[in-house]
Amino acid sequence: MEEDYVFKIVVIGDSAVGKTQLLGRFTRDEFFLDSKSTIGIEFQTRTVDIARRRVKAQVWDTAGQERYRAVTSAYYRGALGAVLVYDITRRATFEHAARWVDELRAHADKSIVVMLVGNKADLPRAVTADEAAAFAEEQGLFFSEASALSGDNVERAFLRLIEEIH
Ligand code: GTP
Repeated sequence: MEEDYVFKIVVIGDSAVGKTQLLGRFTRDEFFLDSKSTIGIEFQTRTVDIARRRVKAQVWDTAGQERYRAVTSAYYRGALGAVLVYDITRRATFEHAARWVDELRAHADKSIVVMLVGNKADLPRAVTADEAAAFAEEQGLFFSEASALSGDNVERAFLRLIEEIH
C-alpha cells in the first residue's frame, strides 16, 4: 500500500553513541555488537501506521566523527525530525548535545521536531535522567533514554517523534 506521508528524520550526535544501532533497531529490529563507524551518509526506512495514516519514516544516519562530515545543509534539508543521541556512559557526549542543537538551529528548518535520546541505558550511567530532562525542557526537545542493545524504548522514542511531527 502507498504511504500517505514520507517523513525525513536525521540521527545526529557524537561518534560511537549508537546512532547506527538505534536506526537498525528501529527499522529492522537488529543490533550488531561490532558495529563499524559510519562513513558518509546512509538511510533506511520503516513504514508505520499513525492515526490511520501510513507514514514512511526515512531515517538518515551519518558519521559523528568530524573528519567524515562533509554534511551540513544537504543532510538537514527537508528533515522534519531529528534524533539527537548521546551515550549515558560518556558525559562528554551529553555535554556536546548543546553543540548539536546549535548545528540544528543553523542548518535545519525552524520547525524541526527533536528527540534527545540517552542511549546505552543498559550500562552504568554518567549522566542522570533528571539533568538530561532539564536540558531537553530548556531547549524545547522531547527526551527519552533508550538501549539499542536491549531494544528498550527505541521504538517508543521514534514513534513519539513521528507522532509529534504528524
Ligand atoms: P559513528 O558512526 O562513529 O558516528 O558511531 P555511531 O553513533 O553510529 O555508533 P554505533 O551505532 O556504531 O555504536 C557504537 C558502539 O556502541 C558499538 O560498539 C555498538 O555495539 C555500541 N552500542 C550501541 N548502542 C548500544 C547500546 O544501547 N548498549 C550498549 N551496551 N552498546 C551499544
